[in-house]
Amino acid sequence: MCCILPDSGKHILTLGIESSCDETAAAVLRDGRELLSNVISTQIPLHRKYGGVVPEIASRRHIVNVMPVIDEALQKAEVALSDVDQVAVTYGPGLVGALLVGVSAAKALAFARNVPLIGVNHLEGHIFANFLSHKELEPPFMALVVSGGHTALIHVVGYNHFLLMGQTRDDAAGEAFDKIARVMGLPYPGGPEIDRLAAEGDENAVDFPRALREKGNYEFSFSGLKSAVLNYLNEMQMKRIAVNKADVAASFQKAVIEVLVQKSLEALSETKLDTLVLAGGVAANSALEHRLREASAEHGIRFYYPDKILCTDNAAMIACRGYYQSRAGLFSDLRLNAVPGLSLQSVEA
Ligand code: KG4
Ligand code: ZN
Repeated sequence: MCCILPDSGKHILTLGIESSCDETAAAVLRDGRELLSNVISTQIPLHRKYGGVVPEIASRRHIVNVMPVIDEALQKAEVALSDVDQVAVTYGPGLVGALLVGVSAAKALAFARNVPLIGVNHLEGHIFANFLSHKELEPPFMALVVSGGHTALIHVVGYNHFLLMGQTRDDAAGEAFDKIARVMGLPYPGGPEIDRLAAEGDENAVDFPRALREKGNYEFSFSGLKSAVLNYLNEMQMKRIAVNKADVAASFQKAVIEVLVQKSLEALSETKLDTLVLAGGVAANSALEHRLREASAEHGIRFYYPDKILCTDNAAMIACRGYYQSRAGLFSDLRLNAVPGLSLQSVEA
């Protein structure tokens, strides 16, 4: 396996590939933070009529899309495949069939070009999206990762050194957004729909529960909240009382945000860190961003979140994570496989 010496002085071009769920994406990154291209082909319209991602359809569409998307990323970056120094790819977590398409493409390209392959944890990628949006950002910081499948607080000590503070015991925040939206008859993906609707509602209309609020507990649980909202909607339907969807959306969103903000502030205070970084698809939520910004300002915390296009799934964040892995010699070999259940874990430098 060839290897790039970290301080050879040469610019390093990383091709990033992402296919963990319903976005086929490729990006070209020069060194750690200079994004040359970022191509995302979304399958959302395809899955919308089913109310969620259909794994088999997603895999098939990734197969059709993956090479054209990579070609487009190279073209937009004005580079040739022969210029690429290394290939970074998401190998988990995600849908196994979907992941395998990106992993297979990356392995084939790395093998054909005889360049290093770097398997990237998608959730670490979400955190690294912030390095692309904020060139001055450096570890250490506290990262709040809120995506469709995961919710976690992670202390980023260094580029390759993470300490997991806590994660969700059951549902992820994004999962709860999507499920509640579906029951309210809103289109997939539900998160942005709830976000929009909540802006018109009264967040104090319904008092939904907040779980695991004891101090020092950095685990999350959103299944109780999800059930409480579903029970409320059922009860109203049985009593034939018209529900104000905007009020329900706003009240639910407030319950999620309150817990996320409280635990983030506690984790910052315990670790004596002064920087908070928001990551994952739910980072695109306008109320969450607003509340975290407000709370950070009150407590003298520097707050970062990625540009909207880098909040949800993309390959730029995968290329960025891959670049910092390569600096530490953390390469994969051609046995790299998809790991659908990969989670965020503590990693020592
Ligand atoms: O990170 P992501 O793109 O995919 C995963 O890695 O899971 O996150 C997707 C999740 C979905 O649950 C989607 O509903 C949610 O992010 N999301 C939002 C918003 N935009 C996307 N949730 C709340 N408000 C938004 N504006
Ligand atoms: Zn994601």
